[in-house]
Amino acid sequence: MKDLTPARSDLDPIEIASRDEISALQLQRLQWTVLHAYENVPHYRAKFDAAGVHPEDLKTLDDLARFPFTMKSDLRDTYPFGMFAVPQDQILRIHASSGTTGKPTVVGYTEQDIADWAKLVARSMRASGVRPGDMVHIAYGYGLFTGGLGAHYGAEALGCTVIPMSGGQTARQVQLIADFAPKAIMVTPSYMLNLLEEFQRQGLDPRASSLDVGIFGAEPWTPKMRSQIEADFDMHAVDIYGLSEVMGPGVACECVETKDGLHIWEDHFYPEIVDPVTGKVMPDGQEGELVFTTLTKEGLPIIRYRTRDLTRLLPGTARSMRRIEKITGRSDDMIILRGVNVFPTQIEEQVLAVDGLAPYYQIELHSPGQMDAMRILVESLPDQLEGRDAAGSTLGRRIKDLVGVSAEVIVGDPGSVERSQGKARRVVDLRDKG
Ligand code: DLL
Repeated sequence: MKDLTPARSDLDPIEIASRDEISALQLQRLQWTVLHAYENVPHYRAKFDAAGVHPEDLKTLDDLARFPFTMKSDLRDTYPFGMFAVPQDQILRIHASSGTTGKPTVVGYTEQDIADWAKLVARSMRASGVRPGDMVHIAYGYGLFTGGLGAHYGAEALGCTVIPMSGGQTARQVQLIADFAPKAIMVTPSYMLNLLEEFQRQGLDPRASSLDVGIFGAEPWTPKMRSQIEADFDMHAVDIYGLSEVMGPGVACECVETKDGLHIWEDHFYPEIVDPVTGKVMPDGQEGELVFTTLTKEGLPIIRYRTRDLTRLLPGTARSMRRIEKITGRSDDMIILRGVNVFPTQIEEQVLAVDGLAPYYQIELHSPGQMDAMRILVESLPDQLEGRDAAGSTLGRRIKDLVGVSAEVIVGDPGSVERSQGKARRVVDLRDKG
């Protein structure tokens, strides 16, 4: 793989500023944000008043812990535009979550917010090894989802040539990658595996493709998945994180030279880790729920947003800004099976560790009797069909020994497991709800 480390002189000075400088900027911006929210969003004013806190109480960064959390339900309760802090005619763009349960959450951006977002995605792309002039294939979905347009504006801001492919049309995606020869691709890791399969179907060698780097996010993925994609495509696989309520892609991103966790762009977002049950702020290094406060957002300032994502805060390395460890999973996606907590990423790790299995999997939960049970759907590699029973037993044993739960493993034919069209559906819950 090529060395894509950016020159230090190309970085934004704040990326490598001292911690004191970063903290001073954060405090100043945090004080502005809290006041902006209090003065312009009645919902925040009511919540702050009820909690007995006022923007003037925020004298240090630690004082933020006195302010109430914001949850997805706050956005739902004020649907559609009740959390906006500027009049609608100053909102340049709206995005929304898919809203599979209840109403979607709606977010809005001012012109300045769109410019900041583009700058941070551009910064993330540069950290990932992309340079001005590179061609970038964007296969995140365009539309209300923030992935496609977020990546698009960032790539343009960096000065790249953009291929706005969006999701779907897998065969065409591969044809265009082969014909246009982009350097970088931005897509969910699970959909990248579909593209891999399509390369093989079209008789193309993915290792010979033009791609030097993939910027993957929008869903959890394991270090083993990284190794697999890097080996299959002979390219760097870098992790990018974000969420629509806070901004979209580009809240945090790995650096290609270290790939040791995602640097949070702390000049625009203030992170905390809290105990998911008590809400108490935890020291850096301990695992808990990630909470974000925006520092510059005008349209939708968000105060202490509970992301449900579980991770740890780590000190800066390639940049001064702190890192988050790769996300273990969302607390909502945690499966509790006979008292054992299981995340889909733990299953992914085991699937990818067994020779002869393809990297596609789905977890089914069902309740055959009194107890819940887990079934893992995987498939054997096309050239290893005769070893499938052995591979299935190995997987079952690894899950029992290393994850601590018993699971039935079904090794299906190649192509039998549902393929991702964007964010993969890892868990299918077939349990009796009665
Ligand atoms: O998924 C934004 C995004 C688009 C990020 C493209 C990266 C690339 P939402 O649809 O609001 O926004 O979903 C946000 O997705 O809270 C996490 O649970 C999950 N997620 C996003 N990035 C990662 C990642 C976009 N790198 C939710 N690793 C978040 C693990 C991620 N989970």
